Amino acid sequence: MKRSVMPAGLVALSMIATLVVGWQVHAETNRVTFPEIDKLVHYTTVRRGNVTEHIMTTPEAMQAIKANRPVAAGTHFVLVDHRDGKVFRYFVMEKGDSWGADYAAGRRTGDWQFQWFWPDRSVNLNENTARCQSCHGSQSAGEYLFTGNRIPRFDGKPVE
Ligand code: HEC
Repeated sequence: MKRSVMPAGLVALSMIATLVVGWQVHAETNRVTFPEIDKLVHYTTVRRGNVTEHIMTTPEAMQAIKANRPVAAGTHFVLVDHRDGKVFRYFVMEKGDSWGADYAAGRRTGDWQFQWFWPDRSVNLNENTARCQSCHGSQSAGEYLFTGNRIPRFDGKPVE
């Protein structure tokens, strides 16, 4: 009797191991912190159907982009995704000293890391942020940003 119980226990154990490994593939806590939204400047808005995106960063980063200088470590760029007028999620990029070293060269987006936060500021553990990096990787010539080129046009009102 005991003999037949043991293998079942082992099977259960290996199933748990598989689940844990599977979870690790998707779980994407990384170095990105939730930003101090109040200190950021909302420089552009992107609208698509019922989605409204407010995109923001620090005044210092905006100066750097205008002057064609690298954005400083510690900078956040945030996309606040509103659905039907309510915050649905926060997409955050943050740059840190040598943060690129956390990833293999093929995945790396300079020293930027990416994260998806829910409105309660918890991380969406179902997202693999390699997807964010793979798309933003196309913008390597401009700090991995899609809307960085709108910053020089900002004159106090979010560029539409
Ligand atoms: C398929 C391409 C694609 C993927 C995947 C993607 N993004 Fe973006 N991202 C964009 C585009 C395009 C914009 C410009 C705004 C727009 O058009 O909605 C953008 C804008 C942003 C911005 C504002 C700064 C900027 O680049 O203009 C942040 C922050 C951002 N994304 C974070 C993320 C995060 C975090 C993820 C993953 C959870 C992610 N993105 C996944 C294409 C992508």
